[in-house]
Amino acid sequence: MNKIKALFFLFLAMAVVACQDAPQTEKQNIETGDPEIEDLIKSMSLTEKVGQMTQLTLDMVCVGEPYNLEVPHRLSEEKLDSVIRVLKVGSILNCGGHTYPREYWLATINAIQQKALQNENPIPVLYGIDAIHGVNYTDSASLFPQQIGLACTWDTALVKSLATMSAYETRASGIRWNFSPVLDLARDPRWPRFWETFGEDVHLASIMGETMIHGYQGEGEIDSLHVSACLKHFLGYSITLSGKDRTPAWMPERQLREYVLPSFKAAIDAGALTIMVNSGEINGIPVHIDKTILEDLLRDELKFEGLAVTDWEDIKYLVTRHRVAKDYKSAIKMAIDAGIDMSMVPTDLEFPVLLKELVEEGAISEERINKSVRRILTVKKKLGLFDSQTPSMADYPKFASKEHQDLCLEAAEKSLVLLKNENELLPLAQNKSLLVVGELAQSLNALNGGWTHTWQNNDPSFNTPGRLSFLEALQQEYAKCSFLSSADFQKNPNIAKSYDVVIAVCGEMPYTETPGDIEDLNLDDEQQGLIQAIERISTPSILVLIQGRPRTLGSELNGVDALIYAPLPGDFGGEALSNLISGTINPSGRLAFTYPKHPSAHTCYDHKYTDQIHIDFSTNAVQPLFEFGSGISYCAIDYTNLSLDQKQLGLNDTLRYSITLTNKGDRATRETLMSFVSDSVASITPSVKRLRAFESITLEAGESKTVDVLIPVSSLAFVDANMNWIVEPGVFGLQVGPLTETFEVYE
Ligand code: GLC
Repeated sequence: MNKIKALFFLFLAMAVVACQDAPQTEKQNIETGDPEIEDLIKSMSLTEKVGQMTQLTLDMVCVGEPYNLEVPHRLSEEKLDSVIRVLKVGSILNCGGHTYPREYWLATINAIQQKALQNENPIPVLYGIDAIHGVNYTDSASLFPQQIGLACTWDTALVKSLATMSAYETRASGIRWNFSPVLDLARDPRWPRFWETFGEDVHLASIMGETMIHGYQGEGEIDSLHVSACLKHFLGYSITLSGKDRTPAWMPERQLREYVLPSFKAAIDAGALTIMVNSGEINGIPVHIDKTILEDLLRDELKFEGLAVTDWEDIKYLVTRHRVAKDYKSAIKMAIDAGIDMSMVPTDLEFPVLLKELVEEGAISEERINKSVRRILTVKKKLGLFDSQTPSMADYPKFASKEHQDLCLEAAEKSLVLLKNENELLPLAQNKSLLVVGELAQSLNALNGGWTHTWQNNDPSFNTPGRLSFLEALQQEYAKCSFLSSADFQKNPNIAKSYDVVIAVCGEMPYTETPGDIEDLNLDDEQQGLIQAIERISTPSILVLIQGRPRTLGSELNGVDALIYAPLPGDFGGEALSNLISGTINPSGRLAFTYPKHPSAHTCYDHKYTDQIHIDFSTNAVQPLFEFGSGISYCAIDYTNLSLDQKQLGLNDTLRYSITLTNKGDRATRETLMSFVSDSVASITPSVKRLRAFESITLEAGESKTVDVLIPVSSLAFVDANMNWIVEPGVFGLQVGPLTETFEVYE
């Protein structure tokens, strides 16, 4: 017995010794992470720490006043010294008003970095920019369609290539942090940032978002060709009651979890390094002080470990807009307590001083500060900033290359959506005489939308030389191509009789954020008048809509022979549109949103059955102008032989179906195969259908392809009454093109 006891105590002693090692090792992994970063944090003063949590706009280190800099803007040594040497500010963003050459960017950012490296703790500055469709503040950069246009391509491989190219050109500009992608959903066509999203659908936005993360950040370690993405705007930013920017959202948790959260979760799971917080409020609580969202959901549930940055001036807006804080210092405490890591201040020098006071007064612990500094330094280290700060002009030789421009043209072409082509009016032979009507035909700015060369992109003088407007591109293609303003045409529509075809161009000039708020979804009267005018002429007519959101047109366009939607296709949109008109390309874009017919009757495609109750008590109340996923090409595609491998599936099974697509046309085409599933009965009212899979299929003329599609049963889940994602057994419908099938899921 004694022997056993002795062995027991020996074992116990060994276990204790082993444990003594374990806590140290475990403590090392859980609380401290990277030793280099921990050593740096230990050596930092409180001033340095709160400086790292401060982000200022470039204006704050340039000659002149914020938003009113000396032009061309240039660094102010005095301001740089007070911001970088004295306040130890760790991040700068934005551009001083408009686009500049690469050389300028490299010289400016290098000067900022050199100043930072003179500090006792030489911590490089993390520079951020909104390179949302290419690095749009660098001269000659390769600009592709805005996100809504990328979504209309439905081409994930293309989107990944574009994000990779954008990261390359952003790095070439000396910048490593891109405030992109937007993962909010475009559920309301009034919303002014509709065009910055991947459209209305949860699945499409989730797939496109995670694809963009992989393109921006690469796979694994971030190398010198990639940048940090920034998911925005977390959370629920686009779901406002008024349809206006930064106005209140009232959102049940189930809507938040089933519609708003998945695209962010997918991108976080894809490894996104940073996230930007929604400026708005949800259910009366500004998101910037909502700990349930910024800590409980983002950190504890989604396990996000990156840095959370505020949006523009949003801590100060807690005082001046939301009125939840009596003064700036209180607002800072509320936001830091809720989980903010970095404040996009962006134009005052008080933030770091007040934050330091809060720590010195004990209102905020230094450990809390260390948590944010740790995240910020980790992002800087992952971006290689401690190893190198600024590239040379000789680096990145493919910047603005023909290869990059061709990629942008391909994206512009694939983003265009042909919605109507009566009597196969299109494509137009080169001997046709065209009359182009409407000022948007002459605007490159309209093709790019906001965030291009300037914030609002309302100054053509900064456009990239050599990029063509739609009219310019057409006139290169067609010898007989005239232009008339909308007003002049409406005064004398009979002029149409002298031409083979009239092409009217309508839509929106650029706008960004709040300046894009509207009181009426209808297109303005002048442009509605133009549409009515072309519907009355006998000459064949084409309507081209260049717009960031689907404006209602006051017509069902029955009198228009062909209709093209151009979802802000970017710098090469004019050439792309001309190539579609001439038949150089075969259009393949599909709407990533529902196009409403009436200004006050918008319903997304994944609506509920009760949305369909009509005034005559039929069930066809939902009558959009064009459905989600609409679009045609110059080729008819036959869908045949829809066949399910199994019609009885368990909860852990995967539905596998095959289908044959046949290109009946005389040219190659690209078809987006969309799989929609509907739950026939569920404990929460089911949507009439939901997109569960999609892929691009290319087909040569006359070619048939049989395609297999996999849909995990788990992807049929919805959020139930207890806020859990569940799949309920029962009968489901599958819709692929014009074909449908049913299958059953059992326990
Ligand atoms: C803006 C936008 C945000 C952008 C940020 C920096 O207000 O809301 O999308 O990234 O400020 O420019």
